[in-house]
Amino acid sequence: MTHAQVSTVVSDPASVDAAIESRASVRAFLPTPVSRELIGDILRVATRAPSGNNAQPWKVYVLQGASRDGLVAKVCAAHDALYADPSLAAQYREEYDYYPRQWVSPYIERRRENGWSLYGLLGITKGDKDRMHAQHQRNFRLFDAPVGLMFTVDKVMGQGSLVDYGMFLQNIMVAARARGLHTCPQAAWNGFASIILPHIGAGPGEMLVCGMALGHADETAVVNGLATPRESVDTITTWLD
Ligand SMILES: Cc1cc2nc3c(=O)[nH]c(=O)nc-3n(C[C@H](O)[C@H](O)[C@H](O)COP(=O)(O)O)c2cc1C
Repeated sequence: MTHAQVSTVVSDPASVDAAIESRASVRAFLPTPVSRELIGDILRVATRAPSGNNAQPWKVYVLQGASRDGLVAKVCAAHDALYADPSLAAQYREEYDYYPRQWVSPYIERRRENGWSLYGLLGITKGDKDRMHAQHQRNFRLFDAPVGLMFTVDKVMGQGSLVDYGMFLQNIMVAARARGLHTCPQAAWNGFASIILPHIGAGPGEMLVCGMALGHADETAVVNGLATPRESVDTITTWLD
């Protein structure tokens, strides 16, 4: 730690809170480009995340332009093929369980509420599988964001590296907010690692952690009006005196 870090006083805590509290998963972006310098700046700040033994297990691939469009085309095609023929699912396995294998209460209720709030906002009703598929596929178009980030970790690392990773990802999302940008973290890509890893040139020892869309939010998009609730501090906390 430097002396500057020790003696730094956050003179405006409200702006830190605003960056955190204004972060939301944005699912409609404008095509406005984001400069390489700005992306690099966000990543540089994010690398200040702590990690066990300072192992810094993160590896980031930034996709823009042709590399972005190429990946979008490949994964959208695979996603469509999977929809047409569900028996292809065996080809598209996630490399680690991001979601539980079996959802139980209270998580299953929160998950349902989240899903139906999103679909409700978009006027997608139960059973409208084509529209659900189309909305899900928006993930693989990066919700039209000009920048896609893909995150990998060396498979030799322990589960704790995913804890470290979460802090790095959150730093990216908060640093993006501090610069007027928005994000959507995306586990949706994880099932398509067999397409993504060769596309980005990842080595055989790398595992896909998740993806993320980055760009300027389309403030007029209905989908970006989704307000997600949180449990109260009292609900999640046990105070021990
Ligand atoms: C690691 C991670 C992966 C996620 N994957 C997706 C995804 O693939 N697609 C999506 O639309 N949202 C995804 N989300 C967003 C969550 O649905 C969202 O964070 C949650 O509903 C809370 O809403 P908020 O981010 O707007 O506060 C993901 C979030 C995290 C943290």
